[in-house]
Amino acid sequence: MTQVKEKPALLRQAFPKNFVWGTATASYQIEGAANLEGRSPSIWDVFAKMPGKVKNGDTGDVACDHYHRYESDFDLMQSLGFNAYRFSMSWSRVLPNGRGQVNQKGVAFYDRIVDALLARGIEPYVTLYHWDLPQVLEETGGWLNRDTADAFVEYTDLMTNALGDRLKNWATLNEPWCSAFLGHGVGIHAPGKTDFAASLQAAHHLLLAHGQAMPIIRQNVPDASAGIVLNPAPVYPASDSSEDLAAAHRADGFQNRWYFDPVFGKGYPEDLWQAYGKHAPKIQDGDLEKIAAPLDYIGINYYSRTVVKAAPIQDTPFPWALLGYEHMQLENVPRTFFDWEVYPQGLTDFLVRLQNEYQPKSILITENGATYQDQLHNSQINDLERTAYFEQHLSASLKAIGQGAKLHGYFAWSFLDNFEWAEGYEKRFGMTYVDFQTQKRIVKHSGRWFQAFLGEKSL
Ligand code: FCB
Repeated sequence: MTQVKEKPALLRQAFPKNFVWGTATASYQIEGAANLEGRSPSIWDVFAKMPGKVKNGDTGDVACDHYHRYESDFDLMQSLGFNAYRFSMSWSRVLPNGRGQVNQKGVAFYDRIVDALLARGIEPYVTLYHWDLPQVLEETGGWLNRDTADAFVEYTDLMTNALGDRLKNWATLNEPWCSAFLGHGVGIHAPGKTDFAASLQAAHHLLLAHGQAMPIIRQNVPDASAGIVLNPAPVYPASDSSEDLAAAHRADGFQNRWYFDPVFGKGYPEDLWQAYGKHAPKIQDGDLEKIAAPLDYIGINYYSRTVVKAAPIQDTPFPWALLGYEHMQLENVPRTFFDWEVYPQGLTDFLVRLQNEYQPKSILITENGATYQDQLHNSQINDLERTAYFEQHLSASLKAIGQGAKLHGYFAWSFLDNFEWAEGYEKRFGMTYVDFQTQKRIVKHSGRWFQAFLGEKSL
């Protein structure tokens, strides 16, 4: 008789003993309370209110109202079994003028957040900048103005002094590629600029802000674990022709090497610097040394991969034309509601490459998740596809650990459905469903799966 063998379930105990299990969110996506207690607008408040920029005219004004509901949100998080939580702080809530005058009520909010997490045995991981620059700083040039990097250092100084006695895990930036390119190159994110050269200049000032802030974190929190969060899109060639391979290498330069290389002390990649020509950013002596500040960990946000084929190089200010490649939309592959391909192997491949090429001391997956069209039936959401996505990517992470990647934690994106930037509330990523009319939370199947997995029980 042939025996039908079931695929063995993924087990928590297969992961290293002190593995960090978390979920992630970001300030503008969940807090709401946009105009309360002294917070001033960020570039996302302004951008979301420009007609046509965000689907359905949605804004983060109320979002998940987490500002008022954090206690019950953290009770829920604790009940799911997570031992860590990655969140971000709103710069304009604590420094409404961008720099200078401190809004103590804003600082007190994050102080309460940290205490509420610690009281529940959840280790806080904070990101200082998850895209919500104070609008007042945008008005003086935003990330195109080098002074913004200095303002970021002052903000870092304030928050590390205020919370560093209890808050030990710090990240400077979330996904500078997105802030720079989506915000200044193609303009689909705040502040909505469309100038490729400007996006490279913004990227440089963002990286400089990171590099200048790292020593401040260390000075104020000597036992801190400090790093940065990048969003690699592993690039694969459409074929193994030498043209496609070379195109994939260039695309990898634009997406990945431009950020990983300088942060790990290799400077900007020479091939790209040449190819960007007049679009390359203005940098000053000493900048690259600052950007190369040693990291305790590198945070990786992984969602999908990119597949490219070679195309004629054109002297137009679009990176793919300038670098001679085109994106391929593969057929018959699993995709999420965002149309992003589900490709867990890309996570294994990138983690192993990261370890071999850059030798990080430690890696955290700071985001990983998927959006699907959730259906509410009898007050339940049976998001089996999202559960499968998490399971597959956790297996892919385990594979990478087996191949030598120093991966020490995983944060699922996201704890709650939330304001998904230009997509508004339409694209849900949560393991917890949020009814945005009533603010009711309903744990989805994927959240219950995590609870069972982390509690080492069956679902
Ligand atoms: C990442 C962002 C995060 C969220 C996910 C879906 O790029 O860091 O805020 O929007 O994508």
